[in-house]
Amino acid sequence: MKYLLHTYGCQMNVRDAEAVAAGLEAAGHLPAIDEADADLIIVNTCSVRGKAEDKAVGKLGLLCATKRTAPQRIVGVMGCMAQRRGAALLKRIPLLDFVLGTRQQQALPALLPRLAAGERGIVLLDDPAITPRVPDAHLPGAVSAFVTILLGCNRRCAYCVVPDVRGAEYSRPAPEILAEVRQLAAGGVREVTLLGQSVMRYGRSNPVWEAPATGSFREDLPRLLEAVSAIPGIRRIRFTSGHPSGCTDELVRAMRDIPRICPHLHLPVQSGSDRILDLMRRGYTAAQYLDAVAHLREAMPDFSLTSDVIVGFPTETEEDFEATRRLAETAAFDNTYIFKYSPRPGTPAAAMNDDVPAAEKMRRNQVLLEDQDVRGQRLNEACVGRTLDVLAEGVSLRNDQRWSGRSPGNKVVVFERHPSIAAGDLVPVQISRAGPQVLYGEVRG
Ligand code: SAH
Ligand code: SF4
Ligand code: F3S
Repeated sequence: MKYLLHTYGCQMNVRDAEAVAAGLEAAGHLPAIDEADADLIIVNTCSVRGKAEDKAVGKLGLLCATKRTAPQRIVGVMGCMAQRRGAALLKRIPLLDFVLGTRQQQALPALLPRLAAGERGIVLLDDPAITPRVPDAHLPGAVSAFVTILLGCNRRCAYCVVPDVRGAEYSRPAPEILAEVRQLAAGGVREVTLLGQSVMRYGRSNPVWEAPATGSFREDLPRLLEAVSAIPGIRRIRFTSGHPSGCTDELVRAMRDIPRICPHLHLPVQSGSDRILDLMRRGYTAAQYLDAVAHLREAMPDFSLTSDVIVGFPTETEEDFEATRRLAETAAFDNTYIFKYSPRPGTPAAAMNDDVPAAEKMRRNQVLLEDQDVRGQRLNEACVGRTLDVLAEGVSLRNDQRWSGRSPGNKVVVFERHPSIAAGDLVPVQISRAGPQVLYGEVRG
């Protein structure tokens, strides 16, 4: 069978899609070139905002309509919206063949014979009573890979649907993660990004080690990072997403002292106003956020910081918004992902009046984007003249005469092709020019 996956949403979904693809390939199925070529199409969905769901429903409707001319084609849905809406999706999209919850991906290969035999409308949702098994299969050939270390989320920020759809926190046993990373390294992977919604809570919800600590760290995440960095072949380690309360002395010391850990964090702030942060139930004040950032910068002179911001949370005033602008500047975000607030069914914030008009949300979004462009340009220009270690990934998406890779701070660096450079090499690139999002340079030596 030829399969095609459409993925929306975060890195967690990207990783899940890869695991599903690897599972399908292990069972003898092949990737399709395009929709027309595909016997099986799966839409991997996100629920974080209403728009993300609407897009996926629209896409599924169109895909199911193609069954009129290709009646054998199987169309299914997985990911967060599949879990959130479950069987209700079959009412909305009657030709949909299956709905898979976020912890049910491994069931897919076994479902295919049932689907091929004509069974339709299969719904498999997560069972919170079962200890999850995280799929460890990857597609070959990558230089950089995602590794899920923590499922679910226990934080319950007031606006967020993720804890409802991804379930309670579950930390994978460390030996299982290390085995997966060893396998990846043996297959040529040079960089791993460890994933969790609130990744710094790794090991806090359930035990993850078989024996007490013997290395330099006692806390679970620093211990894991140290163990990953000892795996031959792994040159870079990242982990995401962070929370200021998780930036402990030990974690900061691990980031400073383990050379393979990149000096970069994605630390979503959401707002710079204490009143809004409190309504959001984020569990920190703007000052506490900035303290965590100061701590990280003190330990790592080249530390780079990216963040998420929500604009137009209920009751957000111009003054609250200006506090967010100031915080983004004080914290010197290298990049900001900006989201317009969207009420999500069942969340505490959905009971509040969504009172910031759409046009105002749009304006605040634009203002933050423009601030980020100016700041990004300024911060990136400070890199001009410096030589950065770039993990070469392959031909640049923007210009096939050039290559691209990432700096330790996770910035995209574009450089000229060089016959001796292969994907996975760490190359010194001297930066000659900067844009707000991208650095350009020449390979040294
Ligand atoms: N676990 C991550 C965030 C996962 S969701 C963390 O807490 O750091 C990714 C981003 O989507 C969030 O950081 C937030 O900025 C945005 N988001 C989540 N719920 C939202 C909502 N209801 N409306 C708008 N943006 C939202
Ligand atoms: Fe959502 Fe908050 Fe959990 Fe992030 S930490 S997934 S924003 S509840
Ligand atoms: Fe990710 Fe969207 Fe789900 S952000 S966890 S895919 S709701």
